Amino acid sequence: MSIDRMYEELYQKLHKIMPEAEIRLKAELAVQINQLKKERNAVILGHNYMEPALFHSIPDFKGDSLELARKAAETDKDIIVFCGVRFMAETAKILSPEKTVLLPAEKAGCSLAESITADDIRLLREKFPGVPVVTYVNTYAEVKAESDVCCTSGNAKAVVESLNSDTVIFLPDEYLAGNVARETGKHIIFPTKMKGWPEIKLDTDLDYQIIGWHGKCEVHELFTVEDIENARKLYPDVVVLAHPECSPEVTARADFAGSTSAMIKYVEQHDAPHYLLLTECSMGDNIMAAHPEKEMLRLCTHRCPHMAEITLEDTLQSLKQTRYVIEVPEDIRKRAEKAVRRMIELF
Ligand code: 13P
Ligand code: SF4
Repeated sequence: MSIDRMYEELYQKLHKIMPEAEIRLKAELAVQINQLKKERNAVILGHNYMEPALFHSIPDFKGDSLELARKAAETDKDIIVFCGVRFMAETAKILSPEKTVLLPAEKAGCSLAESITADDIRLLREKFPGVPVVTYVNTYAEVKAESDVCCTSGNAKAVVESLNSDTVIFLPDEYLAGNVARETGKHIIFPTKMKGWPEIKLDTDLDYQIIGWHGKCEVHELFTVEDIENARKLYPDVVVLAHPECSPEVTARADFAGSTSAMIKYVEQHDAPHYLLLTECSMGDNIMAAHPEKEMLRLCTHRCPHMAEITLEDTLQSLKQTRYVIEVPEDIRKRAEKAVRRMIELF
């Protein structure tokens, strides 16, 4: 595609949120990336939180963590460029070890992934022998390797239910665990990680238990019930959508809770006068760019600094310099693959 054509396409979508000169610059970068992508036989996967110019120009596939993991497992390209965060790129490598997987920014972390280690899981298994471990995909490979099955925000409840176990260890997102507990009618407890670990006992009077962990998403933990009440006061007909990494108090007051793609589909399939998205801000911009007729209320104080590390400039350098290559030691990868594939095969 020519630069002029790319500029036109981006301009149509982005002129309300970005100055013309910036759109022109982004169009030039996008054309170079798409050219190089062909030459290098690469596929670009773009998470729903990517900034609007990148999101609407270079990804071959866009989606939530689960959809992109599936695409990574299916691709026949030589190189996967993951425009998302490190744990997502690692999941791609776990599923497609023979491919070169590139992450355009060196770190692009995640507060949830940083909140737990493989040692933590080994200790939990010692404390609760025989209890299955469900791990959110927002974790690093060595943590997945210690788990029985992974889940995403799109299938957490179904994965827990598939285990047919009264008690489940669910890590590391405290709020996602709380939302699953509410939806499955399970009682939730949190072991506290302290030096030497305190004695933790399961409450044997209760039939149903989720053993959680105090990890949180640094973006979604900031949304409050007050945010929803204030929006409803100003816009009584607003439809509120929350990601399940928000607290159970927040999701209980929202009209809908679901993965990033589930929220996008909800907005596309409904005809409300206003929407409030309680999630990373770029996603609202991306929906507005694709559907200018949709009225998205903006609550953009909360942005994910890790997702924001992925830019068009860095994606171009990533393809030019083959950087940053994601590696997962084979023994860890094999064990992590079992947990990820079990999830993919379930749903
Ligand atoms: P999704 O799987 O819903 O895309 O969520 C990923 C994520 O990191 C949300 O903060
Ligand atoms: Fe992690 Fe939260 Fe950023 Fe998603 S939005 S990548 S969970 S820090």
